Amino acid sequence: MAIRNLRYQGDDILKKKSKEVPEEEISSEKIQTLIDDMIETMHKYNGVGLAAVQVGVLKRVVVIDLYDDKGPIVLINPVIVKTKGEQEVEEGCLSFPNEFAKIIRPAEVVAEYTDRDGKRMQVKAKELLAQAISHEVDHLNGEVFIDKIIPGTLEYVEPEEN
Ligand code: NI
Repeated sequence: MAIRNLRYQGDDILKKKSKEVPEEEISSEKIQTLIDDMIETMHKYNGVGLAAVQVGVLKRVVVIDLYDDKGPIVLINPVIVKTKGEQEVEEGCLSFPNEFAKIIRPAEVVAEYTDRDGKRMQVKAKELLAQAISHEVDHLNGEVFIDKIIPGTLEYVEPEEN
């Protein structure tokens, strides 16, 4: 496993659409290593989610970890099939260090995805998980949160020294 280099605000790759991973490639060492590296990279930077494009790989692979008892979730080729309601939330992104803003996300989402074992799954999510899935699927479509924030809510938070 390895920490991958993050792509940051201003990098054109963040605006590109990621490609689906063919089902037969999911078990490949290349994809499995990508997943492991993405989880390690997300954890290193204390992120809640990471899309492959953020480490420079234009594939529809997402990892999410709410740091609860479920552990990291891997979503390959995720599709949001249903949304319900709205929530106004505070949001950040590992590609936009120290920037936070308010944004409207769906209150609930139903998403279909393939897990790292190649099994097609469905998740019904609300609150932070719904927000995270929505944010990460946006990344796969070349969309970044900063383009849809509530105007005037952007804040810069200085990182803590350690
Ligand atoms: Ni992000």
